Amino acid sequence: MIRPILRYGAGVLHTPAGPVDAITPEVLSLVDDMIATMYAAPGIGLAATQIGVPLRIFVVDLSVGRTTTDLMVFINPAWVERDGMQLEEEGCLSVPGFNATVARPARAIVRGLDRDGTSREVEGTGLLARAFQHEMDHLDGQVFVDRLRGLQKDLITRKIRKLTKAGQW
Ligand code: NI
Repeated sequence: MIRPILRYGAGVLHTPAGPVDAITPEVLSLVDDMIATMYAAPGIGLAATQIGVPLRIFVVDLSVGRTTTDLMVFINPAWVERDGMQLEEEGCLSVPGFNATVARPARAIVRGLDRDGTSREVEGTGLLARAFQHEMDHLDGQVFVDRLRGLQKDLITRKIRKLTKAGQW
């Protein structure tokens, strides 16, 4: 089931998510919804918090469904390693219409449980490392806008406030 994606300003997007205690049928159905919602958007990643569920789960698929082996599910993810730095433009399904350059690790290894409860470790570089960091931030209650500073951050948050006031956000 495709679920509505919450936008910047919704409480759950700005609050750290809690761990998944057990991979129940409800959790699996949530994961299915996250994948359907990510593909429908379309997007390359989605965190549970973005559909209003405060649990530590994210999905990533750089191919947006074109290559089945690209789909990854991480339940209770944790960092194994992160290093280097890359600067690229980034956006978020919860902040439609806005992009900004964000500093991210050039390489990141994340470990988490798959849908069947198997622990797996994946190394990402470039865009995949960026996606891992972006989605992990969501689970910690951080949106890419929160990583910006100064004028760039003020500009985006001011525009969002304006849109919210106008009922267009
Ligand atoms: Ni996002």
